Amino acid sequence: MKIDVVLSPPEIDLLPKRDLARTTAVVFDVLRATSSMITALANGAEEIYPVCTIEDALALKATMPDAQLGGERHGDRIQGFDVGNSPLEYLTPRKRIITTTTNGTVALKACEQAGEVLVGALLNNRALTDLIRLRQPEELLLVAAGTFRELALEDVFAAGMVCAEFPEAELTDSARVALSLYRQHQGDVIGLLQAARNGRALNAAGRGNDVAWCGKLDSQAVVGVLKDGAVRKLHHRRD
Ligand code: MLT
Repeated sequence: MKIDVVLSPPEIDLLPKRDLARTTAVVFDVLRATSSMITALANGAEEIYPVCTIEDALALKATMPDAQLGGERHGDRIQGFDVGNSPLEYLTPRKRIITTTTNGTVALKACEQAGEVLVGALLNNRALTDLIRLRQPEELLLVAAGTFRELALEDVFAAGMVCAEFPEAELTDSARVALSLYRQHQGDVIGLLQAARNGRALNAAGRGNDVAWCGKLDSQAVVGVLKDGAVRKLHHRRD
């Protein structure tokens, strides 16, 4: 298996031009979009539709009135939407969700043409790596969703954590960077999240509980797969 890591949003912009037909892509937006999706799936969500813009969310909602609108801009719930982007809000069962976030949903949409697209977080690292071990894809692409136009430490760390699980894999230079970051901080996940720009911003906004939740390593035995426009729970070993 070859593992590559997309480190930042400018590289994500180029993904739609890449041939990913034989690639398994995993998108990480640890703080907080993909952690919220994993939490939602673990708490009864059946379908989560990631979209890039508020307009896309509203247009999709018009075709599925039962869906709840979720997501954020600048970390806050979007005006008129049912729910924001805090993973703690998704402990309440929400069957069908349409969500738009600044980076996480954009990164997922950019990977849509990949052979398989999975949702990664620290919450589900064990379930995710178990699944990758079963699938044994030729090409594994770990996508760090980032923050606005910049790299996000926690997303690269999460990608590095996956790299560490596959010592036999061929790593690109960017995967080696992610692995080095992971090795440097592996004993202190919460410390890494607190030090990261997103962690500091969330703490400053009174959202420290979100940071603590997103750092609960391996607490959710759930993998999400993006297919036909929606993220759904994938029961590994059975699917
Ligand atoms: C994003 O998608 O950019 C993030 O999840 C933002 C957030 O923390 O709400």
